[in-house]
Amino acid sequence: MTGAAIAVEGAHKHYRDKRALDGLDLEAGRGTVHGVLGPNGAGKTTLVRVLATLLRADAGRMEVAGHDVRTEPDEVRRRIGLLGQHAAVDEELSGRQNLDMFGRLHHLGARRAALRAGELLARFGLADTGRKPVKAYSGGMRRRLDLAASLITDPEVLFLDEPTTGLDPRGRAEVWEAVRSLVGGGTTVLLTTQYLEEADRLADRISVVDRGRVVADGTPDGLKARLGGDRIDVVVREAAQLPTVAALLPAGATVDAERRLVSAPVTDRMAALADAVRALRDAGVDAEDIALRRPTLDEVFLHLTERDTDPVEVRV
Ligand SMILES: Nc1ncnc2c1ncn2[C@@H]1O[C@H](COP(=O)(O)OP(=O)(O)OP(=O)(O)O)[C@@H](O)[C@H]1O
Ligand SMILES: [Mg+2]
Repeated sequence: MTGAAIAVEGAHKHYRDKRALDGLDLEAGRGTVHGVLGPNGAGKTTLVRVLATLLRADAGRMEVAGHDVRTEPDEVRRRIGLLGQHAAVDEELSGRQNLDMFGRLHHLGARRAALRAGELLARFGLADTGRKPVKAYSGGMRRRLDLAASLITDPEVLFLDEPTTGLDPRGRAEVWEAVRSLVGGGTTVLLTTQYLEEADRLADRISVVDRGRVVADGTPDGLKARLGGDRIDVVVREAAQLPTVAALLPAGATVDAERRLVSAPVTDRMAALADAVRALRDAGVDAEDIALRRPTLDEVFLHLTERDTDPVEVRV
């Protein structure tokens, strides 16, 4: 027992010859949002399904809300909520009817189920739309209803599998807001996502997962700092100058032609800035903008999940 809300050690799960989880370790503190960030096929959904007792792992030690997932699945089920990647609300029913039904399925009894439905609709800004059939909802409303449904039993630990995939920026912001309010109430959230921005904004800690294992973990800031620190960005006026600038900046420069941007990693911030300014002026390059910045989580992610060293995924 670790006292953590979620503790996973050496989780393995394979489907025939495919290793979906390959020795995954993870620990999430109580009342925190833990982001699991990874590309398609990384094993995120498999991890969620194993922790939510929907799928049996081949090996590993897994504890959720203080109970062993393998030996005490019923205890675990009583304490968790799950928002799947593809949700299970009934299109023809209204939001209120859906929540009511979920409440009854969870043996709340008619009165408590109705009360809980009303509470959750209000909490997620769906009170006005409670009678409209779900098929008439916007993407953001739907996902908020899914979230409400996963909270019927007031879970200690909530699993959200890609809660905002397919939503527009506004729908995404609405779901983020809803998730934040949950954590304020003490719920532990394990959130999988392919969106770095989402992990960056919501998660206290992030596990970057690739091919069934954690390739890096830490706070969003810590992860950014670990990837070699700062970068220098130069935006030029003329796209024709991009190769010249790339050659002048420190090694490892990347070019984004669309934004007329060259970006390079730097070690000594001030020296790099001074050198760049001098070199650009000497070369007669007219820069529109020169700036030092921290790496984005996208850069961390791409760096950590680079595919070029992988012989296993190669198919012809
Ligand atoms: N039922 C299954 N049978 C066979 N292989 C599976 C099954 N479910 C998943 N896989 C494989 O296991 C690996 C991990 O899948 P998983 O769905 O956990 O990834 P994911 O990170 O959730 O991906 P996505 O971002 O696309 O949802 C993938 O290679 C996938 O093809
Ligand atoms: Mg998935």
